[in-house]
Amino acid sequence: MVHHEEDHLSPPSYPLIDRFGRIHTSLRISVTDRCNIRCTYCMPELEPAFFPKSELLTFEEITRLSSLLVDQCGITDIRITGGEPLVRKDLHRLIERLADIPKLKDLSLTTNGLLLKNHAHHLMKAGLKRINISLDTLSEDVFKNLTRRTGLKNTLEGIESAIQSGFQNIKLNALAIRGITEDEVCRLVEYASSNGLMIRFIEYMPLDSDRNWQRRDVLDGDELLAILSNHFGEVKEIPRADLSQPAEDFHVGPHRVGIIRSVTKPFCGRCNRLRITADGAVRNCLFSDKEVSLKTHIRNGATDSELLELFQECVVTKEKSHGISDEAFRQPERPMYAIGG
Ligand code: 5AD
Ligand code: SF4
Repeated sequence: MVHHEEDHLSPPSYPLIDRFGRIHTSLRISVTDRCNIRCTYCMPELEPAFFPKSELLTFEEITRLSSLLVDQCGITDIRITGGEPLVRKDLHRLIERLADIPKLKDLSLTTNGLLLKNHAHHLMKAGLKRINISLDTLSEDVFKNLTRRTGLKNTLEGIESAIQSGFQNIKLNALAIRGITEDEVCRLVEYASSNGLMIRFIEYMPLDSDRNWQRRDVLDGDELLAILSNHFGEVKEIPRADLSQPAEDFHVGPHRVGIIRSVTKPFCGRCNRLRITADGAVRNCLFSDKEVSLKTHIRNGATDSELLELFQECVVTKEKSHGISDEAFRQPERPMYAIGG
């Protein structure tokens, strides 16, 4: 497909600009709330009540919404999330359709990697551009404690397979949780480096289903940097190329590490993200308590302009920041797996 230069330059007809002037160009689409593991920082201990399959947006519906958002609203980047997106049947078929949207610049996936070994090649062929893989530990015991399942070996094979399939710019995401991550940080950094991958540590956020999160459970960015400099030597911040990226990058001795200070240094002021949940709601923030349901409208025959209005409705109600550190902060109704990371 030929993408003309002018396509990228012509301004969108219905840009997604909120009350604080933030322009939304990045869309995260959750394709399922199901997952093959049960991370304590995300899923409940007991079996969660997943959405019935009939409640999930179909690939046709997702493609229609995505095309509209890219064509008319200035969305340039789409990331597919879950639950675990690879448990959704035939995901590569959706990737193929999204990759075909002219004007879409980036198409990426966030996965826990367990199923990646069998999918990486198909995803690459389908037109997926980038993959982020969650990896919190290199110890099977810690993996088991964190995810209440086994499977670290599968994740590591998945990573290997993503590299073999030719994916560039693969990123590893590791949660930073007090009492767990201290012992993992250095080994994870060495693992990432030796495989030529970028690793980012993400401060644990209050999005766990069991609502056990406490501020002191966050291993914060400063503590991470202290551990890293103790072990690897000098830490030097690398100036950011893309200001909308949440990660701060550092040279740490011979390595490169990203830190996402989602709790201690919120990046809400630069947020350019909009989210669509697997059951078809559009959300303006991980932490928002309001959302706009698209699914009923789509299934009742909404026109494109009606859908465009719903996107705007969602964007204009976006709050200035998540306020995790405020006294009045309340965890959102939806836990992480039902929003999409
Ligand atoms: N805080 C921060 N990140 C989280 N993720 C899941 N739950 C949380 C949380 N409570 C991240 C995972 C994964 C992505 C899907 O979301 O680490 O990288
Ligand atoms: Fe699954 Fe990701 Fe939630 Fe872990 S964080 S349970 S991998 S959806």
